[in-house]
Amino acid sequence: MLSLKEIGLKYPTNKNDYGFLDIYAKYFNVLRDKKLNILEIGVDKGDSLRLWREYFINANICGLDIEKKDFIIQNVEIFEGDQNDKNLLNKIAKKYGKFDIIIDDGSHVSKHIINSFNHLFDHLSQTGIYVVEDLQTSYIPRYGGSRINLIKKNSSMNFFKSLSDSINYENFDKPFFKKNRYDGLIKSVHFYQNIVFIFKGESKKYYHPNVNKKYLDYIKKMLSFIFR
Ligand SMILES: C[S@@+](CC[C@H](N)C(=O)[O-])C[C@H]1O[C@@H](n2cnc3c(N)ncnc32)[C@H](O)[C@@H]1O
Repeated sequence: MLSLKEIGLKYPTNKNDYGFLDIYAKYFNVLRDKKLNILEIGVDKGDSLRLWREYFINANICGLDIEKKDFIIQNVEIFEGDQNDKNLLNKIAKKYGKFDIIIDDGSHVSKHIINSFNHLFDHLSQTGIYVVEDLQTSYIPRYGGSRINLIKKNSSMNFFKSLSDSINYENFDKPFFKKNRYDGLIKSVHFYQNIVFIFKGESKKYYHPNVNKKYLDYIKKMLSFIFR
């Protein structure tokens, strides 16, 4: 059986050029024969879909691209549309069920990357993997990034960096802390050069100080002191 890198040589996707295939192989080799649902945003000439088709022998594979494609790839479904279109994403998810792997290699615009992630997270399986390629665009202003402000609120890199806090949310000690939608639902976030892998999975409950209770008790104590 050919390795992912060997299959990659057959298909001229830029995943070869950026060293992504070595990283993908680390995570995907154990999944190779599993029955999976896989979505890739960004089809271009179809080479990465051909690569996944040959590599994952038992997976359902589909792609989404804003441009109409005039080719077909056997046993791969290609949807035409925008990665920001929630109705379309819902339609795709309804057809496939939960995705085990989602790869965003689409517009690379920070806003689009974040929109798609926010929307597709619910359609990712409980232990699913979400990959975003070409994150160097997060440092390019025309993609909504910044070369100067590394904590720019709406840049894709900063968004994914913030998910790493959600892994450890149990330890936050902010007054009136409220969980955000990702707190406790991210197992790990693995950054490599220009690419990130987000692993979905529930946090274990190791320690959860009842932060709200602590502050409410404090306020009650202060009020009873004032009105004693
Ligand atoms: C880098 S190419 C994809 C390459 C392909 N995944 C591969 O590895 O061979 C990016 C693709 O994203 C598509 N694209 C750009 N904006 C998009 C959007 N808003 N929604 C969906 N696809 C988009 C482009 O038409 C282009 O085909």
